Amino acid sequence: MEGPAPAAAEPVPERRGEPATVLERCVTGIEGLDNILGGGIPRGNTVLIAGSVGTGKTTLSLEFLLRGAERGERSLFLSVTEASGKLVQNLSTFEFFRTDLVADGSLVFVDLPVVYEKLGLEREELSSDELDILLRTIRDMVRALGVKRLVLDSLTSLCYRIRTDEQIREFVLRFGEEMSAIGCTSLLVSEITPTQGRYSTRGVEEAIVDGIVLLWNARRRGDILRVLQIVKMRGSAHSHAQYVIELTPIGLLMTPHLKGNRNEEEG
Ligand SMILES: Nc1ncnc2c1ncn2[C@@H]1O[C@H](COP(=O)(O)OP(=O)(O)O)[C@@H](O)[C@H]1O
Ligand SMILES: [Mg+2]
Repeated sequence: MEGPAPAAAEPVPERRGEPATVLERCVTGIEGLDNILGGGIPRGNTVLIAGSVGTGKTTLSLEFLLRGAERGERSLFLSVTEASGKLVQNLSTFEFFRTDLVADGSLVFVDLPVVYEKLGLEREELSSDELDILLRTIRDMVRALGVKRLVLDSLTSLCYRIRTDEQIREFVLRFGEEMSAIGCTSLLVSEITPTQGRYSTRGVEEAIVDGIVLLWNARRRGDILRVLQIVKMRGSAHSHAQYVIELTPIGLLMTPHLKGNRNEEEG
């Protein structure tokens, strides 16, 4: 089998019930992704972008925000581990990146450690009350700025500061509910290892989110291919096929992943 082999999925608790009508889509602006999602991500969904290091999670997430900003949807990047100044610098090598969208506030970068500091959340482990404060702060920021697309890079780094699985469950559940109510479509980056056998560090996050996009590296005759698969997307029929992705200066390109190659293994 190619790609990580996650454990059998837990029954997914439905948060808002099955959609009765066709949902409005958040057009990602990444053409290949919109094609396999039937037009985009149902607006207000919370989607896990899961993959090991270097599989393209940050690049995909940033393109999603940039394409949104281009269409007049204000976008927010919440950075936990990488300083956003450095991220912007790296981004400038991509042709699709437009500094004017940052300058005019269409694409906003916020470093979460700065938020922690402002809120006085300095202890390594966040209590339930502190998590509540953090959640409200993010919600208020999204509301005040009219943010329509949000990326948290990464949820994994944030979860390192949360002690129990129950607190993670509560945080992700409430985050999803708040963002859905506002109509803000969110990508939560999840750092996993190829052998981990699941989509999130603690395993609880993946059952709550609305969607999971899985990225991994596959080796083929000495080359490394980046592969993408939609594992789940509530409110949307979607392809489960695997796609090879290329992170090019003009953006992410996708082609069907041709299987049956014996020289290929997951890496
Ligand atoms: N500014 C850039 N220009 C060209 N290629 C880049 C740039 N940034 C990242 N990449 C390529 O994308 C790959 C994936 O990077 P990234 O999206 O940061 O992965 P992840 O977030 O999953 O660790 C890198 O290994 C690199 O090959
Ligand atoms: Mg990254």
